[in-house]
Amino acid sequence: MAKKKLNIGMVGYGFMGRTHSNAFSQAGHFFDLPYQPVLKAACARDAAKLKPFADQWGYESMETDWRKLVERKDIDLIDIASPNDTHMEIAIAAAKAGKMVMCEKPLGRNAAESKKMVAAVEKAGVPNMVWYNYRRVPAVTLAKQLIEEGKLGKIFHYRAKFLQDWTISADLPQGGQGLWRLDVKVAGSGVTGDLLAHCIDTAMWLNGSIDKVVGLTETFIKERQHTLTGKKEKVGIDDASLFLAKFANGSLANFEATRYARGHKALYTLEINGEKASIAWDLHDLHRLQYFDHRDEGRTRGWRSLHVTDSDHPYMSKWWVPGLQIGYEHTFIHQAADFLEGVGTGKSAAPTFREAMATDIVTDAVLKSAKSGKWEKAK
Ligand SMILES: NC(=O)c1ccc[n+]([C@@H]2O[C@H](COP(=O)([O-])OP(=O)(O)OC[C@H]3O[C@@H](n4cnc5c(N)ncnc54)[C@H](O)[C@@H]3O)[C@@H](O)[C@H]2O)c1
Repeated sequence: MAKKKLNIGMVGYGFMGRTHSNAFSQAGHFFDLPYQPVLKAACARDAAKLKPFADQWGYESMETDWRKLVERKDIDLIDIASPNDTHMEIAIAAAKAGKMVMCEKPLGRNAAESKKMVAAVEKAGVPNMVWYNYRRVPAVTLAKQLIEEGKLGKIFHYRAKFLQDWTISADLPQGGQGLWRLDVKVAGSGVTGDLLAHCIDTAMWLNGSIDKVVGLTETFIKERQHTLTGKKEKVGIDDASLFLAKFANGSLANFEATRYARGHKALYTLEINGEKASIAWDLHDLHRLQYFDHRDEGRTRGWRSLHVTDSDHPYMSKWWVPGLQIGYEHTFIHQAADFLEGVGTGKSAAPTFREAMATDIVTDAVLKSAKSGKWEKAK
C-alpha cells in the first residue's frame, strides 16, 4: 500500500548532507515506517557544486537560498546539515513556517542560540530532533539497555575521549569550505562543541545529567591564514579540551578531545565502571561492546567482547543475519527511522532540541571554566 509521503528539504551537501540523504533513502527499505521520505529539494549557495550532489542522490529539485526552501509549500521537513553558524536562523525560520526540523549537532554555537531554537520549535509545536547519531550505534544502545536494567549497579566512573590529528600542521588555513571548523565565528568553539559535544550527549543519555565541570583548553596554533580574507588571523577555537565532571548521580568523569593526537583519526571511546559491572566501547570497533560482570564465576570472569549483531540486539533484527555487522552510516539510518516512526505516533524522537540544548549548556560551562580556572555549574 502506498505510504504517505514526507518531503525533505536538505540544507548542505557535505559530509552530513550525504549521511542524511543516505539515511532517508535507506530507512524505508529496512524499517516499516509510517511515512515514505522523499528527497524533494537540496539546498546550498553554489548551484554548480550542488547539482552533482542533487543528481547523485536523486533530489527532485534544487534551491540556492535556504529562505526559499523554507517557504516552499511542498516541503514538510527541513534538515539542517550545514555549518554551525547557520543552524539557528534556519531552524527558527523553518519552525515558524510550520516545518518539522532536524538539525545537526551542536544545536547552536552556544546555549543562548540553542535556547532560541528550542523556543521556536516548541512554540510552533513541530517535531524536532538533533543528529547525535552515536546513540544509535547498536552497541551503544545496548549499553543504555544494560544500564537501565541495573546490570552495572551504582555507577562510579564515566570516561570518554574523542581524538583526531588533522589540524596539527601550522600551514592549514582556517575558514571556508571544509575548514569552517577552525573559524570560531562559524563553529562557535573548537573541539569542545565539535567532538566533546558527542561525548557529552552520549554520557548524559547513559548516565544522567552533569552538575558541574572544571575544564582546560588549549589553542596550540595561535594564528592561521584565513581562507576567505587571505590574511593571517588569530585562531579563536580550542584545539584541545579536557574536563572533569561530577554527575547528578554522584559519579565522577573525565572527558578529553583533541585534534592533536597524532595517529588518531576519529577515536571515540567510552568506559563506565559500576559497582557490579563495567562496559567499554570504541568507535573503531563500533559493533562490539566490552562487558565485565563481577557476578560471573571467578575462574572464568573477565572482559567479554560482545559482537552486537544478533537479532535480539538493538536495531539488528532489521539488518542481515546474526554475525554480520553494520557500520557508521547505519546510525543515521536508525535515527531517520526513529524520527519518522515518532512522527507517525505524534512524538519527537530523542534527542529533541530541548534535550540537545543540555549538551550546549555543558560545553558552555567547560569553556567558561577553562577561562575562569574554577568549577562551573553545568545545568
Ligand atoms: N553527527 C555527526 O557525527 C557530525 C559529523 C560531522 C559534522 N556534523 C555537523 O554537521 C554540520 C555540517 O558539517 P559537515 O561536516 O557536513 O560540513 P561540510 O563542510 O562537509 O558541509 C557543509 C555544507 O553546508 C553548505 N552550506 C554552508 N553554508 C550554507 C548556507 N548558508 N546555506 C546553505 N548551505 C550552506 C556547504 O555548501 C556544504 O555543502 C555541522 O553542524 C557539523 O557540526 C555532525
